[in-house]
Amino acid sequence: VTEHQSVRAFLRFLEESGDLLRVSALVDPVYELGAYLWETATGPAVLFERVAGHKLAAFGNLLNSRGRIARALGTEVGALHLLASGAIDRRCPPVLVGEGPCTEVVLEPPSWAGLPVPRFFAGETGSYVTAGVIVAKGRTGKRNVSFARLKILDDQAAFIGIAPTHHLAGLAREAAAAREPLEVAVTIGNHPAVLLAAAYYLSLGDDEFEVAGALLGEPLELVRCATVSLEVPAHAEIVAEGLLYPWNQAEEGPVSEFSGLFQDYGRGPVVTVRCITMRQGALFQVILPGYAAEHVHIGAVAIAAGLEWRLRKLVPAVAEVAVTAGGCGRLHAVVALHRPERGDADRVIREALTCVGLIKRVTVVDDDIDIHNPVSVEWALATRMKADRDLLVLPGMISARADPLAAGGRVAKLGINATRRSGDRADWTVAAPPPAILRQVRAALRAGQFPVSKGATEPTRGDRAGAAAEDTTPGVPIAWWT
Ligand SMILES: Cc1cc2nc3c(=O)[nH]c(=O)nc-3n(C[C@H](O)[C@H](O)[C@H](O)COP(=O)(O)O)c2cc1C
Repeated sequence: VTEHQSVRAFLRFLEESGDLLRVSALVDPVYELGAYLWETATGPAVLFERVAGHKLAAFGNLLNSRGRIARALGTEVGALHLLASGAIDRRCPPVLVGEGPCTEVVLEPPSWAGLPVPRFFAGETGSYVTAGVIVAKGRTGKRNVSFARLKILDDQAAFIGIAPTHHLAGLAREAAAAREPLEVAVTIGNHPAVLLAAAYYLSLGDDEFEVAGALLGEPLELVRCATVSLEVPAHAEIVAEGLLYPWNQAEEGPVSEFSGLFQDYGRGPVVTVRCITMRQGALFQVILPGYAAEHVHIGAVAIAAGLEWRLRKLVPAVAEVAVTAGGCGRLHAVVALHRPERGDADRVIREALTCVGLIKRVTVVDDDIDIHNPVSVEWALATRMKADRDLLVLPGMISARADPLAAGGRVAKLGINATRRSGDRADWTVAAPPPAILRQVRAALRAGQFPVSKGATEPTRGDRAGAAAEDTTPGVPIAWWT
């Protein structure tokens, strides 16, 4: 059994690199723990050593930036999109092992009260498990792995909030039709590869654990559950096994969505827990919900990975896809094209706006633009987009219920083509010093012979990996503005 598939290995790495804040004060799970995560939302990961009323420690803000996600997967931030989109083709089946740390301790009696489940925001009606990766299987035996929040109702029962378009909701409907409860396992405290994989939009029946294996670079180790016919990551910190009763419904009340706004989705199914196992000294993971960096970034990286994989199959010029933080990590995408052909941008726009319900704005740019920098993207709009030619508004498109403006499941969508068109200008060269002099000055700056001003040693787009390397222009000097 290999310890590096445990989130503890990454927490240790963060601590050694000074990127973990230990809070040793007694912290109240009601509002206080969430307020700590709120205040440090873009900072270090946080380990709460003492949670009032509980034996278990808790941690949060684990994957709150693209850089942190890249580090967790052992790659550079610039290469993250290739690792994440490539994982769909490199899927690696999991392997069943005899035993794993997640079964070391059995919580008796099995009760949600044994876990330090926080209450987050004024305006919500209960405490939520937010980092629960739910494992379930359809009647054909195909596995689904996804996030869904659980609001604790009592010692055994929890409301589970699942968007009707999610595969888990489909499995619940299947179970309802057969008049049988759906077996589920809620796994908490997973390796970042599992967390990211759970947020991918794959086809129904595709196993997210295979994507987790591709992200890990080896098969994910699973163990059998005790009371349900499911397998779970052997290195999860905590596993709660239970039954989802589709006909046993509870009212949720207002809940914070990724937009930061409250949604009230009405009634939804209840999960009853039957068995809880955990590691010795288990760590309870918390993902701050609402418009918070970690909630936003995990979804953004996973959705962008799926989009990039799909769009590149349609248009080989697709260099990279970003789902932006300003667009809540769900609603807005930016696509970079390498030397697009006529019609490529339009095909990308139409496909992106239909294949992921949530995506309602797509901006297409050339790959000299840094799609992760909103200033760079706006510069492309300012210099390359004509509003009477390059905007496509698609009214009444199918959306997702979490979109803050969706009405009857529909919303208007926008495509923006901000790529250079040859007829628009005779010369697209960006003013810059001669490349040879620039290289020489950069080398001198790096060698410390001159005082370095902010941004001066940042590589511009012209230096970035891949497509732009062969360009003769030094690239768009947007780094000055960040
Ligand atoms: C941190 C995080 C929390 C999430 N919470 C929920 C949730 O409570 N309910 C929900 O329906 N989707 C939630 N999602 C989105 C789904 O997990 C995600 O869309 C997943 O891909 C759906 O699985 P499926 O493709 O198998 O249907 C969350 C995503 C993230 C990254």
